[in-house]
Amino acid sequence: MSFKRKDLLGIRDLEVDEIEHILEMAASLKEINTRTIKKVPTLRGKTVIHLFYEPSTRTRTSFDIAAKRLSADTYSITASASSLVKGETLLDTLKNLEAMKPDIFVIRHTASGTPHRMARHTSASVINAGDGMHEHPSQALLDMMTILEHKKRLEGLNVLIVGDITHSRVARSNIWGLGKMGAKVILCGPKTLIPPEIESLGVQVCYRVEEAIADADVIMVLRLQKERQQQMLLPSLREYSIYYGINRERLGKAKQDVLIMHPGPMNRGVEISPDVADGPHSVILDQVTNGVAVRMALLYLLGQK
Ligand code: CP
Repeated sequence: MSFKRKDLLGIRDLEVDEIEHILEMAASLKEINTRTIKKVPTLRGKTVIHLFYEPSTRTRTSFDIAAKRLSADTYSITASASSLVKGETLLDTLKNLEAMKPDIFVIRHTASGTPHRMARHTSASVINAGDGMHEHPSQALLDMMTILEHKKRLEGLNVLIVGDITHSRVARSNIWGLGKMGAKVILCGPKTLIPPEIESLGVQVCYRVEEAIADADVIMVLRLQKERQQQMLLPSLREYSIYYGINRERLGKAKQDVLIMHPGPMNRGVEISPDVADGPHSVILDQVTNGVAVRMALLYLLGQK
């Protein structure tokens, strides 16, 4: 199939065959990253601008590496080093950058819906690299790619997502993506961090990790955003760790071949213990490796226009 979209704004909009196509493309491009010379001319002459208005290590670096490995020219703009600090609006920034004729914008922003708004104001392609509490589509795609590599299927798997569901764009994109691909998604966390009526998205909710861990094929651990304690959504990080932390003892109750995933950055000793993060079930660094391949696939597919 050909990929007809101008933008990649979220998983919620994608059809199953589009997700499959991106994942197949990522699997075929991944090999380039193991070559001595990790570069192909596919996007030669194309320009990619990264607009990151929120911190990032993995997403930003891997989009940049992905673009360079496809021979695109890349430029990076951060909020603190841009004219935003002089009062320029994001829309004016976009229009000025657009005047320089880029082909693709990769945008991360604290406000949900920002990439969608930007996409309506530019003829260049826009990729959502994480918008507020809404979506992080490339993360969900790399998560699905990693699960597929290890489990050879998504359909019928039980994927347990543990942590701060309310504020997690990673959880939202995975709920939509894994659900479309036939996996069963179970959410677990304190009541204060699980949105009411989330079951309407076709997921199951539990409030005790022990209830769901034995049946899980994959445990996706989310970063506990420490500011939630200041918002009185948690009594303490220590208490969170006691009730929801994924540690060796809890892992002992899981399947022998369970996968442990985390989108990063991790709070070691809070939501995940170091021995689990670095242990034999962990595929956390595989996720990071696959992040480059998935982002190469997205840039390739959007860069064909
Ligand atoms: N997973 C993820 O989005 O990590 P970064 O914030 O480091 O990009």
